[in-house]
Amino acid sequence: MSTGEPSGGPVLRLGPETHLLVTGGAGFIGSCFVREVLARRDGTRITVLDKLTYAGSEENLAPVRADPEQAARFRFVRGDIADPEAVRPLVAEADAVLNFAAESHVDRSILDPEAFLRTGVIGVHVLLEACRGEYERAAAGERGRPPRFLQVSTDEVYGSIEVGVATEETPLAPRSPYAAAKAAGELLVRAYHVTYGLDVVITRGANTYGPYQHPEKLIPLFLTNALESEPLPLYGDGLQRRDWLYVTDHAGAIEHVLRFGEPGGIYNLPGSGERTNREVVAALLDLLERPWSLVRSVPDRPGHDRRYAMDGARLAALGWRNRVSFEEGLRRTVDWFRANEAWWRAMRSGDWAAYYERQYGARLAAGRPVEPPVEEPVGPMGRAKAAGGSGPRGGSAEGDVPGGR
Ligand code: NAD
Ligand code: TYD
Repeated sequence: MSTGEPSGGPVLRLGPETHLLVTGGAGFIGSCFVREVLARRDGTRITVLDKLTYAGSEENLAPVRADPEQAARFRFVRGDIADPEAVRPLVAEADAVLNFAAESHVDRSILDPEAFLRTGVIGVHVLLEACRGEYERAAAGERGRPPRFLQVSTDEVYGSIEVGVATEETPLAPRSPYAAAKAAGELLVRAYHVTYGLDVVITRGANTYGPYQHPEKLIPLFLTNALESEPLPLYGDGLQRRDWLYVTDHAGAIEHVLRFGEPGGIYNLPGSGERTNREVVAALLDLLERPWSLVRSVPDRPGHDRRYAMDGARLAALGWRNRVSFEEGLRRTVDWFRANEAWWRAMRSGDWAAYYERQYGARLAAGRPVEPPVEEPVGPMGRAKAAGGSGPRGGSAEGDVPGGR
């Protein structure tokens, strides 16, 4: 998945000698990482440790199980990263630990913050303690090189970036319980690097979208609601801005940092296109050929971050470039959800109805129609739409894949 290699060569090599422990590997981004690495058939072995919360599903790893060569290099363990008994023996076998496990939805963190702290803080601490134990075993000659630790973090740790972009030196200013738990987790990781000399790397990924994303998040929620002709609950004025990262680019950048990232290094992983939420929804409805009248403006998320935007120079210097433009990624996502209705219907079962009522019941009752995007005249390049005005960076170019600025 890497697109360029720094001259110093990798810090960690993947291949038959390498065993990765991927926590949260049954979720959206973790399962993409597992599928991509195993499908390359370079001999790398992977153990997934996942609690299988409402957000995780073994179905996300079905392509791996269906392929005997990949299945032979793969093991699934159901367990909690906050449980030292479950974690220790798995870390003891690993050459690297990648921690994707988290409660990942901002709206749920506003309703019930505690699980976010348990997994995001205690869970990270338990993983780091297990890694520290491996340094002691290595010093005693009981194993070879101790494991590299990669913490999957988020741009949300910077809080709302109204203008400009956050570099890796920008102070952390999380504003939701989710973001605060993620910031706390990565501060622990950094502390273990400084205090105990653990080899760690931290990635801060942008808003991610693509196949297998739980339908609670903006793009798959609006996509599946539109397929069901249900209203699309747009928070506030819909002019909040996110920089969208296609899931294979996120997984690929994580692998690149795992292999080449400097010990103790923190890397922003920007997306491939900053858009207002209104622009995202307009593009989605266009692809689905569904009417704008489905969109409802509903009362805003408390503390809603207006904008996320990151500088990607450090990742670019490490040799990584994103490959998938927003237009291409959205098309692939729509195609996948259309072809995998049984998957998303299963994710919209269980506690879904109760969650949906709690999150959206009163909001939708108070909702109102939203002015449709202003259509610009049809030009030689086809129809252009202005869905919600341009922001600090102005309009975004079709097919543009900056992958770092
Ligand atoms: P997800 O909710 O789809 O998956 C999370 C996975 O972790 C699930 O399989 C769940 O069962 C598992 N899990 C939760 N608590 C656990 C625990 N205590 N022990 C073991 N497993 C547990 O999330 P995602 O969107 O794939 O996000 C993965 C990581 O990437 C998270 O750390 C998230 O903070 C980060 N991230 C996500 C985005 C995004 O836009 N989705 C962007 C940047 C960073
Ligand atoms: P989300 O996918 O929850 O990601 P994050 O909060 O981590 O950025 O939301 C993306 C944007 O979409 C965010 O500005 C909130 C907005 N949003 C809505 O307007 N309505 C919704 O129902 C959801 C889930 C999100």
